Formats: sequence, C-alpha cells, structure tokens
Amino acid sequence: MFDTTKKIGILGGGQLGKMLCLAAAEWDFKTYILDASADYPAGAVSTGFVTGDFNNYDDVMRFGQDMDVLTIEIEHVNTVALHALVAAGKAVHPSPVALDIIKDKGLQKDFYQQHGIPTAPYRLYEDEKQLRKAVQSGERTLPFVQKSRTAGYDGRGVAVIRNEDDLDSKLLPGPCVAEDMIEMQAEIAVIAARSPSNEVSVFPAVEMDFHPEANLVEWLVCPARISPLVEAEAEALAERVIRAYDLCGLLAVEMFLDKEGNLLVNEVAPRPHNSGHHTIDSASTSQYQQHLRAICDMPLGATTQLQPAVMVNLLGEPGHSGPVQYAGAAECLHLEGVHIHLYGKAETRPYRKMGHVTVCAETLEDAIKKAKMVKAKLKVLSKPSV
Ligand SMILES: Nc1ncnc2c1ncn2[C@@H]1O[C@H](COP(=O)(O)OP(=O)(O)O)[C@@H](O)[C@H]1O
Ligand SMILES: [Mg+2]
Repeated sequence: MFDTTKKIGILGGGQLGKMLCLAAAEWDFKTYILDASADYPAGAVSTGFVTGDFNNYDDVMRFGQDMDVLTIEIEHVNTVALHALVAAGKAVHPSPVALDIIKDKGLQKDFYQQHGIPTAPYRLYEDEKQLRKAVQSGERTLPFVQKSRTAGYDGRGVAVIRNEDDLDSKLLPGPCVAEDMIEMQAEIAVIAARSPSNEVSVFPAVEMDFHPEANLVEWLVCPARISPLVEAEAEALAERVIRAYDLCGLLAVEMFLDKEGNLLVNEVAPRPHNSGHHTIDSASTSQYQQHLRAICDMPLGATTQLQPAVMVNLLGEPGHSGPVQYAGAAECLHLEGVHIHLYGKAETRPYRKMGHVTVCAETLEDAIKKAKMVKAKLKVLSKPSV
C-alpha cells in the first residue's frame, strides 16, 4: 500500500504544489516538481525539482516519462504531452481529456449543458466585437458576466458588464462566454474526490465571500450557512459532476445558490483548491492527502469537518511591492485555533496570495470573530528599502 519508492510528478510549483508535497512527505512519498524556478513555494519541500516549462511539450514529456504518477496543481499545462504519456501507459490524473474541457470555459459550459448539469444560461462568442453586436441587436441583454474562454483565473478573465459604460471600458478581448448574471444567496464550493477504483467521496460545502475589488476569495467558512437539504443537494451534484468528467483525483466544484434556491455549477478545478485549505487543520483528512490517496488508488479518507473553520487568504497589502515581511504575527500566534500558513514567496504585490490562515473554534461565530482579529492584525507588507 505505502509504496514509498513511487515517484509522484507534479506540474506546477506554487503553493498548491507545496502543500501537496508536505502531505506526501507524511507517507514518505517522493514528489517531483516541474516549474520555472526552484525558488517557487514547492521548491523547498519537494524531493526533486526539475526546472522547465509545464506548457512546453518536450519539457512535460521528459519530466513525465520518469514518473510513476503524474498530476497537476494548475490546469494550464501542455495536455498534448499528457495525452501522449497516457497513450504510453502512464497514470495521469486528472485525465487530459477532462483537462482539455476544463481549461476552456466555453467547452466547460457546453459540457454541463450536454450532461444536464445546471449552470447559468450562456452563449459563446468569437470575440468582444461579436458580443457587442449581440448586445446591440438585443440578443444579449444587460447585465451579464463575460469570461475569457482560456485566459483567466483568480477573477482576471472575468468582467461584470452592467451598463453601456462597462461595454465600452470593460469588455475582454478574444473568444468568450457571456452568461446571465445570477443573483445569489450564497456562493459555495464542494470538493469531490474519485479514485481509479471508482470510489467517490465529498467534503462538506464551504461558503465563499469575495473581496469586492480584487475579485478573490477573502473569507471562506465551513460549514456553509445553508440548509441541510441544500447541503445534501450540493454534495450529490458534486458527485454527479466528478463522475461525468470521469476523472481521478480532486475536483473542486464551484456553485451558485440562486435566490430561488437552485444550485448552478459555475466552474470546476481538477486539483486541490483554495476552498479546501481549511481541511488541513479542521477535517479528518486534508484535501491534499485526499488527492494523493485518489491518484495513487488508495482508500479515500473520511471527510468529516471536525470543527467549524474560517479560512482567510493572506493577500499582499495594496501599496506594497517588493521583498516581503509579515507584520502582527505574534498577536495572532497567541490565539488558540489560529493556524498560519505562509507559502514562501519572496516578493509581495498588491493582492498576491502570500499565505492563508485557518481559524478553528467551537462555534462558527467564534471562528469568525477570531478571523476578523487576525485580518485586522496580520498584514503582508514590503520591507522598507534601506
Ligand atoms: N454568472 C454569474 N453571475 C454572478 N456572478 C458571477 C457569475 N459568474 C461569475 N461570477 C462571479 O465572479 C467570480 C469569478 O468567476 P469565475 O468564473 O469563478 O472565474 P475565476 O476563474 O476567476 O474563478 C465568481 O466566483 C462569482 O463571484
Ligand atoms: Mg472561480
């Protein structure tokens, strides 16, 4: 079962790769990273680091050939190479077939429609000009949400178009999806896992709160403040989605709960996800260990949430760029249930994800109270230049 000689290759050496390596080290599994620089977060904790470009066919082929299991921490990788590695008999999770769909928000939306999975009504457009024409002809009404098909993540490829001014100033160039703007009660994420033996398990839903300016998750709370019925529906929907994609490993399913109480799938990520960080400190099994169990075809772990938890992303403070320093850590370390995770990025920038904090408490109210204290005290700043 514990084959500690197995080589696990990870495309991408950011914080998700780092936390995957840390989980693997518990079982003495060997992890190898492919990314541009060993200075990236995963560099310090992986067994081996290969410098290269995970978007380059030759780099991925060379790296993958040497691995027993290949996985990702970012979906924008060279899938042509991954298809070739699968054809050569390598275990690649998630499958490149699923990755090709997920990488393209247009194909993702079509996939949900084809599989009868509820999602916000949408149309695909060749570019912003065609979309503007559709608005002029009345085919597309305001407001709507425009998404680049392939360019974005962390809110960068998403534009909310509310009025004529936005049409002039905010439209994103290139092939896109335009979807109806959904009025939401809540935005949630459910992380599912599936193994090659077809075992599926699902973590409890988490509720996401977005930073209005940066369009990044600012808080995340677990359990989500939704009814048991909606919780059960959300978990069942996540299971349906991972089975439809037929992939192994983790699948984070982002969903909207609209004002009428319907759940709509927004998008998915086939890897560890920001909305699962809290599981390291507050659940029976962390999302990272679950991903390893799934891709190595081991029994999946229990997903019980042991304590209510709030996760706060530590974002670079606006106005600060350069070598990083963390202010206010001592006050936070005095607080019980506060777990600080720093990713090890040398330089901060406004809103850059530099770490996260999980706050666990007896009740969600207490956890939220403490998380607010942490947010007020712990700051990601640049060092004053000397
Ligand atoms: N159809 C929609 N209606 C309302 N809000 C939306 C819609 N689509 C996206 N959003 C908001 O924008 C955020 C980012 O969109 P998303 O498609 O998840 O892009 P990203 O890849 O940047 O996470 C969502 O989490 C949600 O808050
Ligand atoms: Mg998203």
